[in-house]
Amino acid sequence: MKNYPNVTIFHHPLIQHKIAILRNKDTGMKDFRELVEEITALMTFECLKDVPTRKIMVTTPLEKTEQTVVIENSVAVVPVLRAGLGMVNGVHMLFPTAKVGHIGMYRDEETLEPKEYYCKLPDGIENKIVIILDPMLATGGSANAAIDLLKAKGCKEIRLMNIIAAPAGVEAVAEAHPDVKVFIANLDRQLNEHGYILPGLGDAGDRLFGTK
Ligand code: PRP
Ligand code: URA
Repeated sequence: MKNYPNVTIFHHPLIQHKIAILRNKDTGMKDFRELVEEITALMTFECLKDVPTRKIMVTTPLEKTEQTVVIENSVAVVPVLRAGLGMVNGVHMLFPTAKVGHIGMYRDEETLEPKEYYCKLPDGIENKIVIILDPMLATGGSANAAIDLLKAKGCKEIRLMNIIAAPAGVEAVAEAHPDVKVFIANLDRQLNEHGYILPGLGDAGDRLFGTK
């Protein structure tokens, strides 16, 4: 795959270790859900390293000191339903005041084209850092549709966070939206003929919510 300056792939052993457990077909729903949250929190640490800050004065038991804090209304997350919901708590662990918008999208099983069925976004989202959450980036169709929608609403600072990505999906997003910073925990090998990521982890929504 080409090298894209706005694409960050994590090679951290703590993330890799958690992904090994996540991939395992015998990992149950509870562990799967917790791992998705933990990996998301680790990724959020990097994804928000340039979040806007301000200075405040804090009184310790010994003296007053100036300290940096984040500007609380500067971030929104937008999980792509369903599977993106599993990542929201992971961001909230580190940034509890992030507002949450929802975009409902499913892939047509034949064409793999994304179909939008729901959209509810926080007021003022266009002035925030917006992080789209979806554990899986396969063809990139759903991510590109979500980015198009947010850009049409006026969002200017959009980031995309995926746990597992296929090269085709990364290329599709990076070529269509070179301004969007993409954060991926693991780049996998390829897609199969049904648009599933190999080696992947199966259907993230089904594993998070126990639907199959
Ligand atoms: C999965 C996944 C992404 C999409 C990725 O959702 O969570 O949204 O597929 O595929 P793409 O990159 O080819 O668009 P799915 O459509 O299975 O819906 P679900 O989350 O409701 O299960
Ligand atoms: N969506 C998933 O949940 N898994 C894949 O492998 C591809 C798309």
